[in-house]
Amino acid sequence: MKKYAKFISLLLAVMMFAGVFAGCGGGSNTTSTEPSAPASTEPETTSTEPVSADFTTITEGVLTMSTNAEFPPYEMTDDNGDYIGIDVEVAKAIADKLGLTLQINDMGFDAAITACQNGASDIVMAGLTVSPDREAIINFSNTYAKGVQVVIVTEDSDIASIDDLEGKKIGTQMGTTGYIYCSDTPENGGYGEENVTGYDSGITAVQALINGQVDAVVIDNEPAKVFVQENPGLKILDTEFANEDYAIGVTKSNTALLDAINTALTELMNDGTFQSIVDKYITAE
Ligand code: ARG
Repeated sequence: MKKYAKFISLLLAVMMFAGVFAGCGGGSNTTSTEPSAPASTEPETTSTEPVSADFTTITEGVLTMSTNAEFPPYEMTDDNGDYIGIDVEVAKAIADKLGLTLQINDMGFDAAITACQNGASDIVMAGLTVSPDREAIINFSNTYAKGVQVVIVTEDSDIASIDDLEGKKIGTQMGTTGYIYCSDTPENGGYGEENVTGYDSGITAVQALINGQVDAVVIDNEPAKVFVQENPGLKILDTEFANEDYAIGVTKSNTALLDAINTALTELMNDGTFQSIVDKYITAE
């Protein structure tokens, strides 16, 4: 609720600034707490109503999603170069519900967030962890998955828990929460920036581990499982680094789209579609 209050006050500030444009259907003028919206098309979205059509996207009829498709099983390419993964299929299912065609724009991880922030994409789906810093620049949908930051080491490593990471060389994907936590100061629970290398992708970090350039990789648990399975000689430590929530990032001004996405997501969860997508990619242990 605190989060919501912050969001609403931010939104009110944006509305005061952009008030003159409020009737133009930009989508920045709708919250459920607003007494009377200037636009007559304001959606009154609750989870029980059908998905509202009162939203705009950057290209009419298209849901543009930015991502970094190097994060199995959430987003990756198959042998034909087609995008697959949990996020891809969930995004497709949401787009279907909203009557939109899904357009996927693959780029670096940081760039995928920035694209959503700048309105170059409507949404970012990238196994994206909800964090206060990110909530300041984009909106987040309801959460749809749990992520755990875990540690990958070589099978013969002397690193047995996260306490042994002190003074070791750590590889992460640039811009990820793994990088952000690990590069923080020891007082804040990190290992110091000088000990952490940010790679373009998780698999590049894992390659660096295999080549002996780093001693450990900190990354989300599901990609970690995939990378360890595909690269013999690696293991995941039992101790967890951090627990996180994944959500869909939506451009801040587009609250109408956020509402529609949340409604669609709830429906996909309630009718079992969401779980069946997850089950395709993650086998229960
Ligand atoms: N969950 C982590 C984060 O949000 C890592 C996500 C990386 N995703 C990707 N598609 N490369 O920072």
